[in-house]
Amino acid sequence: MLHKLIRRKPERQNQTLAERISQSKNEHIPAHIAIIMDGNGRWAKKRALPRVAGHHEGMKTVRKITRLANDLGVRALTVYAFSTENWKRPKLEVDFIMRLPEEFLGKYLPELIEQNVKVVMMGENETLPKHTQEAVRKAMEQTKDNTGLVLNFALNYGSRAEIAQAMQKIAQQIQEGTIDHTDVNEDLISQHLMTCDLPEPDLLIRTSGEVRLSNFMLWQLAYTEFWFTDTLWPDFDEACLLDAVESYQNRNRRYGGLKGEETN
Ligand code: FPP
Repeated sequence: MLHKLIRRKPERQNQTLAERISQSKNEHIPAHIAIIMDGNGRWAKKRALPRVAGHHEGMKTVRKITRLANDLGVRALTVYAFSTENWKRPKLEVDFIMRLPEEFLGKYLPELIEQNVKVVMMGENETLPKHTQEAVRKAMEQTKDNTGLVLNFALNYGSRAEIAQAMQKIAQQIQEGTIDHTDVNEDLISQHLMTCDLPEPDLLIRTSGEVRLSNFMLWQLAYTEFWFTDTLWPDFDEACLLDAVESYQNRNRRYGGLKGEETN
């Protein structure tokens, strides 16, 4: 089964990266790709480096993948950079990760602007260090009118907390009488999530061989196609993203129904 999911079409085996990009663009491009960037620690360990070296290398991968996703015409790219559970990690590692948005945006904001990328963030902003908040705020402000790819950083993000927060807001509106309990439906819940401005992910990628969701976009991923790879996030490159997109393009999405001749 997994073979079927990761197999590339035979005619694509010998193509160059440029040919694969151009061919992918002729087919259905996922509007929203969400990525669980895993394996930074193992990448570093394999090289006898401190774990944070893996996160630093992972940051460079974000740059590479953002550029290609934008080029392919992907509308939104969500990257899971820090979960609400990641605070349990050693302070040194947490502090390092919290400096990465500053470094990333300090180095790459000019090229993101040039590429028409819009930077947004989802997660609990208030409990982030002030310097992290400031780096993200500045990038969001400077890119707010951009119309290309939306680069969405999931930072201090947890899906259950997000859903609970949405429920609180809805419950408050019911209590205040602005809506009735019968108004609560799937659309209303979606509108109260942090992704209310984004399409639901078409494709979820998780690197490093782990096959779980880790409290990531639990509501939004209901009909998303999943793609898992053993590649560690710092080693994930353009060819890997194309593998995932091509696999997605070979899938038959049915949303619980039937397609084509199956309905006869
Ligand atoms: C999980 O790998 C990765 C993280 C918790 C951090 C991810 C962050 C980045 C890739 C950098 C983000 C970049 C910006 C610009 C914010 P792990 O450390 O759990 O890997 P392991 O399972 O091998 O230990």
